[in-house]
Amino acid sequence: MAKPSTPTMKLKCATFAAALLSSLCFRLAAAADSNSNNDTITTAQPLRDDGEALTSADGTYAMGFFSPGSSKNRYLGIWYRQIPDMTVVWVANRDKPITQTDAALLQLTGDGILLLLSRINGTTLWSSSSPSSPSSGSSLPVAQLLNTGNLVVKPTPQGGDEFIWQSFDHPTDTFLPEMKLGRNLITGLNRRITSWLSPDDPSTGNFTCGMELGGYPELVETHNSMGETFRTGPWTGQSFSGTPHLNPNPVYTYNFVFTDEETYYIYHLRNNSVLSRMVITPTGAIQRYTWQGSKQGWVVYLTAQNDNCDRYGVCGVYGNCDIESSPSCGCLDGFVPKNQREWDMVDWTSGCVRRTPLNCSGDGFVKHSGIKMPETRNSSWFNATMSLAECREVCIRNCSCTAYANLDLTDGGTGCLIWFTELLDIRVLYANRQDLYIRMAASELDGSGNLKKDVQKSKKAVWIVLACTVSAGVLLVSLGLVVWFKRKKQREQDGTDCPCFVSSSRKKDELELPLFDLATVASATNNFSSENVLGQGGFGLVYKGIMRDGQEVAVKRLSKDSLQGAEEFKNEATNIAKLQHRNLVRLLGCCIQRDERMLVYEFMPNGSLDFLIFDTTRSQVLDWPTRYNIIKGIARGLVYLHQDSRLRIIHRDLKASNILLDYEMNPKISDFGLARTFAGNDSQGNTRNVVGTYGYMSPEYTIDGVYSIKSDVFSFGVMVLEIVSGERNRGFRRRDHELNLLGHAWSLQKEGRAAELVDATLRGSCDQIQVLRLVHIGLLCVQKRPDDRPSMAAVVVMVGGDGDLPEPTEPGFFVARDVVYESTSSSSSGNRGPSSHASMSTTLVLPR
Ligand SMILES: *[C@@H]1O[C@H](CO)[C@@H](O)[C@H](O)[C@H]1NC(C)=O
Ligand SMILES: *[C@@H]1O[C@H](CO)[C@@H](O)[C@H](O)[C@H]1NC(C)=O
Ligand SMILES: *[C@@H]1O[C@H](CO)[C@@H](O)[C@H](O)[C@H]1NC(C)=O
Ligand SMILES: *[C@@H]1O[C@H](CO)[C@@H](O)[C@H](O)[C@H]1NC(C)=O
Ligand SMILES: *[C@@H]1O[C@H](CO)[C@@H](O)[C@H](O)[C@H]1NC(C)=O
Ligand SMILES: *[C@@H]1O[C@H](CO)[C@@H](O)[C@H](O)[C@H]1NC(C)=O
Ligand SMILES: *[C@@H]1O[C@H](CO)[C@@H](O)[C@H](O)[C@H]1NC(C)=O
Ligand SMILES: *[C@@H]1O[C@H](CO)[C@@H](O)[C@H](O)[C@H]1NC(C)=O
Repeated sequence: MAKPSTPTMKLKCATFAAALLSSLCFRLAAAADSNSNNDTITTAQPLRDDGEALTSADGTYAMGFFSPGSSKNRYLGIWYRQIPDMTVVWVANRDKPITQTDAALLQLTGDGILLLLSRINGTTLWSSSSPSSPSSGSSLPVAQLLNTGNLVVKPTPQGGDEFIWQSFDHPTDTFLPEMKLGRNLITGLNRRITSWLSPDDPSTGNFTCGMELGGYPELVETHNSMGETFRTGPWTGQSFSGTPHLNPNPVYTYNFVFTDEETYYIYHLRNNSVLSRMVITPTGAIQRYTWQGSKQGWVVYLTAQNDNCDRYGVCGVYGNCDIESSPSCGCLDGFVPKNQREWDMVDWTSGCVRRTPLNCSGDGFVKHSGIKMPETRNSSWFNATMSLAECREVCIRNCSCTAYANLDLTDGGTGCLIWFTELLDIRVLYANRQDLYIRMAASELDGSGNLKKDVQKSKKAVWIVLACTVSAGVLLVSLGLVVWFKRKKQREQDGTDCPCFVSSSRKKDELELPLFDLATVASATNNFSSENVLGQGGFGLVYKGIMRDGQEVAVKRLSKDSLQGAEEFKNEATNIAKLQHRNLVRLLGCCIQRDERMLVYEFMPNGSLDFLIFDTTRSQVLDWPTRYNIIKGIARGLVYLHQDSRLRIIHRDLKASNILLDYEMNPKISDFGLARTFAGNDSQGNTRNVVGTYGYMSPEYTIDGVYSIKSDVFSFGVMVLEIVSGERNRGFRRRDHELNLLGHAWSLQKEGRAAELVDATLRGSCDQIQVLRLVHIGLLCVQKRPDDRPSMAAVVVMVGGDGDLPEPTEPGFFVARDVVYESTSSSSSGNRGPSSHASMSTTLVLPR
């Protein structure tokens, strides 16, 4: 320990002179005692931005000055010392960057306050909060970086666990092991995490996650202007009611603490040599990462938000969100939409109301199972020892009580949780075993406490059930026949064309595509549980899975009854296995066992582009720089497909729903089921079956079945215009004309009014010149004649540059009416095409 040879310095007020003096002292002290510990700062020994960093005793963490990503600003922070990717877990001066290297130093005062001082003019850029009890005069405080990544100030070098200040009380965007995410109810200290603005900028971002009180506490994520965006639901003893997939696992243990003094969530690593952290990302995802070695890097272990139903209050009060139904919002039984007209237009904000109003004296309760508990914030009451029967009593006696439930599920259910307001943010979650009892008017209930069925409705229901049964029967028989034919055919083929083996049996360019065992994939996807369904891919359902090592994956499972799917599956596996590019979705392996065929991909936490871009609320997360990057990324991915990859590939089904977004909103092209390879200069093909998605297909392909790399360029152009405008080409309507999006964009461009095309939510974040340039490039890509369209390589140059662009000619298909679609759907009746492809969009099948 450095024995300071200078008198104690009281830097109550930081001044330039003091800063200079202390750095002078530092040199003296360093010269006098070079044997000091590398994990501590003493009052005589400030930390400078000269390449030195503190290191925790076990070498896991380092603290010093850094510049994030491509930024040149300097920040004081803590990061993992031993891993190659600079991963910062804490930042001191997040909103006050230092604009030059070595322009600041970190100084500890004799009172135990850490000061980050400008060496240029002596101002304080950041300081740790002042200690509650000043340290006693004789001893000298030290600041130490602990093995947990916690920077602490101790009153004396020997001081035990009593800290004057600690960085764990002031987290940035990262929730580390041993940290407490929550509040001290005595002092009011609120430890919560707040996102960075962007990966290059640690300044305070838009999303915050912390413990909210006013009832039974729960973790809530809020956006600084849109308000609440996500909540975990109340703690049920083993997990939060909204995250029942938080299971015992090999990586960490966790706990929720709620006493008179504090309430927080905490986790501990089972093995300290595993690195795991939880982060709130600039786009608001709450994610856990684990470090999987330098080859794989940080892998997403868990994302708190699973799907659209996790958006806070998406279905309004008394609404219930079910991700498997379409539309996903419904009213709870016994409730009806408050405003049917809005509801029919999929505006769910006003929620639902009771069919029969409550009458306090004679009400009863209806039990709801397999749901996420409604919001408890501001509106709930609890008692940890009451039984469920006592809980019901309390609720029935108070006319403003709307629902009750067991508080804790351990030991078969204990405690009482009661709601006093309209119930909000309920979703279907079968894995939550907590039952919710909702108060209903007596006239709504039958004798046994169930909801009475409306007589009129039930008569109708009988007819519906009858009709369904008959048609289901017919369907089953025909399905049976199809399956039988398929099995027969498969037996003949004997399954030797397994794509995994095809690609790895090639002598020359051996490809290691890992084979996953069926049991592994089944357990990762919870036995292909319907809850894990992410969506419908080209040839079957796509499931979310979590592998045993914690990696999140997306599993595409070939539907067993899809004949066309088998072809597409093979095509996709052989095509994509050989492709590697940061803008193509990565195939991790495949699984072929018995009659199962599956492809395992990296998981894309932000879903597909169409989900975000065409929704007025969700599209707000895509500001202009993000959209610009997405367009650039797609273009780069296509250049790779068209000319840089070994295979040279035409995708043939480019559309917004086939562009997936990773956690940083980087685009990745997916779904190669329809892709075709072409050799050398032969960049054109011909097909009898035109398959693709209406609205994105080029005229020469739709009408003549001729496809080329220029068909992909056309689809790309459509996407560019969709990304800029936030509107779909298919289904685009304007009252004053009959043009589709392409035609509309072209006519605006001709009149010099292209700026009017821009998505209203972009106003503010957009760079006008860049936007106009991209509209122009989009129009060049959708020109009628394929030869007029630029190559993707040329597009990348145009997007990045600022040179003059040629004037576009008339786009292909620029009238809104579905002429082609209507005329072909009748003529294609004899052709059984892959209508299983692309469930969301109409597929065109044309005979030649
Ligand atoms: C401190 O770091 C220096 C080099 O950075 C090293 O030589 C020295 O051994 C370290 N001291 C301790 C106590 O770890
Ligand atoms: C002092 O310098 C910092 C940058 O090092 C700057 O942000 C701040 O505005 C300056 N303060 C004064 C009073 O000049
Ligand atoms: C943060 O929110 C503000 C206001 O809604 C918005 O203007 C800004 O673009 C958002 N920033 C990011 C990085 O999402
Ligand atoms: C912790 O993990 C390391 C590396 O994976 C391993 O070598 C070690 O045996 C593990 N320790 C325990 C106690 O499991
Ligand atoms: C409530 O119920 C009681 C008894 O069931 C009945 O007498 C009373 O009229 C009801 N009040 C209203 C407002 O419906
Ligand atoms: C909860 O109460 C706080 C403080 O009274 C208030 O600001 C907030 O809007 C309330 N939230 C809800 C969801 O009612
Ligand atoms: C909880 O309920 C039990 C049993 O009814 C009662 O004894 C206890 O006082 C209640 N506690 C609180 C804080 O209301
Ligand atoms: C019902 O509960 C509310 C909220 O806790 C409380 O304000 C009110 O006094 C209660 N009413 C009765 C009759 O107990």
